[in-house]
Amino acid sequence: MFDSLKSIFSKSEISDSVLVENIKVDMHSHLLPGIDDGVKSIEESIEIIRHFIGLGYKKIITTPHIMKGTYDNTSEIIKNKLQIVRQEIQSQNLDIEIEASAEYYLDTHFLDLLFNGDILSFGKENYVLVEFSYLQKQNDYQNIFMNISQTDYQPILAHPERYAYFYDKNLSQLKQIKEQGVLFQLNLFSILGVYGKGAKMVAEHLVKENMIDFVGTDIHKPKHIAYLDDCLKDKYLQKLLQSGNLKNKSLLS
Ligand SMILES: [Fe+2]
Repeated sequence: MFDSLKSIFSKSEISDSVLVENIKVDMHSHLLPGIDDGVKSIEESIEIIRHFIGLGYKKIITTPHIMKGTYDNTSEIIKNKLQIVRQEIQSQNLDIEIEASAEYYLDTHFLDLLFNGDILSFGKENYVLVEFSYLQKQNDYQNIFMNISQTDYQPILAHPERYAYFYDKNLSQLKQIKEQGVLFQLNLFSILGVYGKGAKMVAEHLVKENMIDFVGTDIHKPKHIAYLDDCLKDKYLQKLLQSGNLKNKSLLS
């Protein structure tokens, strides 16, 4: 009897909900149906949201792509879609808060929006989530970040571990970007290797070097739900979540 009790209490495994206590807010996902490469229906959206609730998440800041010519979303389109998802959350009595921002592709269209003040930011710090092309390094990215820093917005680079052209020996280019005042958001699923070995290695390196400010799921479809459960078992990620360095919880209020 005592032996079996001892084995229960000596288990070192940390439960998913204890780990999610350190996140509470997911700030990167594609849960507004039909406006980008994320969920296709309200049912898919709610399926994922229910899973977030089950894990103990309290708030979702969903971030559809704004990428001119590919995902021609506007602040208005995003706000209108958010209302539809909010209504469904209410009608199903689901206990979670949801806001919408965007994942902005860093191009001249983004700069137009920035200078016109037409940015869906989030948090008290006016965070704006930005992404690069995966294929080609943008030559003037340092200027763009300089432009952002001259406004009231605080840039967060989405999944810095996914840009292969930044994979140099000491991650010197990514370090330079951080030194420019850009915050980094790690994709939780990168740690599983779902975006390739390079992204996994760089993710681990960024965690080791304390370069991560936010974590996000970047979840696009219900079939990715299993990744969310799996990644919480990863020791690297567990260490990051328990480090106290993440800013996700500051987005609660
Ligand atoms: Fe994304």
